[in-house]
Amino acid sequence: MIAAVDVIRAKRDGGRLSEEQIAWVVDAYTRGVVAEEQMAALAMAIFLRGMDSGEIAAWTGAMIDSGERLSLTVNRPTVDKHSTGGVGDKITLPLAPLVAACGAAVPQLSGRGLGHTGGTLDKLESIPGWRAALSTDEITRQLNEIGAVVCAATDGLAPADRKLYALRDVTGTVESIPLIASSIMSKKIAEGSAGLVLDVKTGSGAFMKTPDQARELARTLVEIGTAHGVATTALLTEMGTPLGRAVGNAVEVAEAVEVLRGGGPADVVELTVALAREMLALAGLPEVDPAAVLASGAAYETWCRMIAAQDGDPEAPLPAPRHVHVVEAPEDGVLSALDAYAVGVAAWRLGAGRARREDPVQHAAGILLHAKPGARVVAGEPLLELHTDTPDAVPGALEALEGAMVIGEAAPEVALVREVIRGV
Ligand code: URA
Repeated sequence: MIAAVDVIRAKRDGGRLSEEQIAWVVDAYTRGVVAEEQMAALAMAIFLRGMDSGEIAAWTGAMIDSGERLSLTVNRPTVDKHSTGGVGDKITLPLAPLVAACGAAVPQLSGRGLGHTGGTLDKLESIPGWRAALSTDEITRQLNEIGAVVCAATDGLAPADRKLYALRDVTGTVESIPLIASSIMSKKIAEGSAGLVLDVKTGSGAFMKTPDQARELARTLVEIGTAHGVATTALLTEMGTPLGRAVGNAVEVAEAVEVLRGGGPADVVELTVALAREMLALAGLPEVDPAAVLASGAAYETWCRMIAAQDGDPEAPLPAPRHVHVVEAPEDGVLSALDAYAVGVAAWRLGAGRARREDPVQHAAGILLHAKPGARVVAGEPLLELHTDTPDAVPGALEALEGAMVIGEAAPEVALVREVIRGV
């Protein structure tokens, strides 16, 4: 017989947990048999002692088994993308319809934002009428007819993770690579996609602040995917400065539409196409050129169908803010840095994000960047536009932005895609 206290002691003393112990403890915790304080102690022991790749694969498997697996009957190869979260990261919006227009199916079950990075569903909900909650039948139909679905993850996927994540949040055990990796991959594997591309971000606006941490997380994610039979690739990408020129909800949708119509900021286009290439390679469609498909307008057409299928009006005007505050360049020079974390926190304070899961977001809140690092700026010219419906939020946003913009003589050249890590 397995007892929770023995599992805790084994990990506390640096031992290796067996597959049987892991399956038991995760299942018993989900059913309420293992108490919150016992799981808290085990999570801390894992945080301090780590887990090897076999233990991580078993832990992920046990979290998947705590709930249902979506079984999608789809007439094309399925492939999904997951980002570890960044500021201005609206890439899912152009990427899902682009990859669908290239011939694969993208089942993207997403979450809402909490903290300084926005959630994909919050962004899409700024489109009038758009509906996040779909049944499994609706997901399957949309994947077969259009090829792309972005919708809310159902409560039945990896319930152990939902419970454990809430516990980690209040016990100082979030920042553990084995626990982060198993949390992300349990949800993605349960979603049933055959291939998965991970966008693992590094820099001030990311979860993993250094490239070394991000690389370790990326390798762990790829190992878990491979161990569970999901073809997995990870891209290590830069998140020191926001992606694109829009941070928020409606403003990010507008920027995604610009990209789908053949325009948009160069960094958003570059990352969308780079991720699409990796997804198409995993889907067995390496010969399709996503840049050409994007330029043809086919991805925009798929976007309109994807939005309309979920009751959204792709042509409707997006919500506009009641108040706009312009931040001007204080001096002449080159914008040498614009810190992603500060911009994320400022957008969040303007109302684009939420402090608690149940809070609403302001669809029109956010920040528009008039200049990106490397741009020459002139004193008095607009640098940032702060959008909000609640003007009393502006001082807090300005406080978050203090020191975030550096004007100098030059900006360092930074590669957006730093590395690609492929499964074997
Ligand atoms: N995102 C997740 O889904 N889980 C974590 O543990 C951290 C980030």
